[in-house]
Amino acid sequence: MMPRKSKEHAKSVSEELEKEYENMLDQGLEEPALSVSYELEDLEGVGRITADKLRKAGFYSLKDIAYASAHELAEVLGSEDRALAIIRSAQRLIGGGKMFMTAKEVYERRQKIAYISTGVKALDALLEGGIETGAITEFIGEFGAGKTQICHQLAVMVQLPKESGGLGAKALYVDAEGTFRPERIAQIAQHRGVDPESVLSNVIYARAYNSDHQMLIVDEAKKLIEKENVKLLIVDSLISHFRSEYPGRENLAARQQKLNRHISQLLRLASLYDIAIVVTNQVLAAPDVFFGNPLRPAGGNIMAHGCTYRIWLRKGKEGKRIARIIDSPKHAEKEAAFQIAEEGVIDL
Ligand code: GTP
Ligand code: MG
Repeated sequence: MMPRKSKEHAKSVSEELEKEYENMLDQGLEEPALSVSYELEDLEGVGRITADKLRKAGFYSLKDIAYASAHELAEVLGSEDRALAIIRSAQRLIGGGKMFMTAKEVYERRQKIAYISTGVKALDALLEGGIETGAITEFIGEFGAGKTQICHQLAVMVQLPKESGGLGAKALYVDAEGTFRPERIAQIAQHRGVDPESVLSNVIYARAYNSDHQMLIVDEAKKLIEKENVKLLIVDSLISHFRSEYPGRENLAARQQKLNRHISQLLRLASLYDIAIVVTNQVLAAPDVFFGNPLRPAGGNIMAHGCTYRIWLRKGKEGKRIARIIDSPKHAEKEAAFQIAEEGVIDL
């Protein structure tokens, strides 16, 4: 039995756990591979009834428990002490929670990251390999910049075999703006020489009607990812519902808090299931900028910190598009040009 602890203590330990988790994310680490598969019922102090309760609340696997915060788990279990004990037990079972490792180990783990080709050589070069698994890649740009077109193309690219730049896996497409067009997927597939019909059946689609619904979809996605071999999750756009539901300065704090939860949800999926996450974001005009670029990405610091790689798209002359990487921990601030055509997103 764990000794009873004060609420403050539980809170500080839970913050510790979150920090540990954040550190892992910062270093792009995944937990060691599972060799044995455990059920929730294998956790100390979890019987069938508690396990069912946990599953109902969206905690399906040991991984979900091991990286949950004591605070959120306490909402299901009733007490933070109990939540902490169960989190620790899950971490022991999966052998996770490894706090220190050498740079060599970090390097070796990074070698295992997979890339999805964008289908555009110039963009792949800009991204040094393509869209990375275990990370969130954000495409930012004004209307018509090509964000949705890139999402459609990636939903095809991820399905291609490794030698053609894909991961031989499925895509999960969360459409917040109602701009998903299966015909376009079929067109792009045809151009890549793959059967449009089978490509269409390997894109799992969900329309998000509001921000709560969008978050619910991402929660439910956990059930599909491993079962359906999903390696790419697309959210187009991440931010539109949040912006329209929380307008104005007075709602900003609430909006950012919720957006933060949504992005943490996504980061967790990226890291636990080793999938690539691609999101799109809008730009807005900063009223206080008189010199230089008055546009800036929506979502503020929370978006900036949450997304691993940010690519800003802008429209050039004659259908040309220019992509620029901003704030990347590993890329130089370079640009690449491409175009949108009948065949999809292609090199100039
Ligand atoms: P918002 O969602 O409005 O913020 O814009 P976005 O960045 O998502 O733009 P989107 O990806 O929808 O790009 C739209 C552009 O793609 C348009 O300007 C079209 O010119 C181009 N486009 C879309 N479909 C086709 C197509 O079938 N053929 C060609 N040639 N261009 C297309
Ligand atoms: Mg769009």
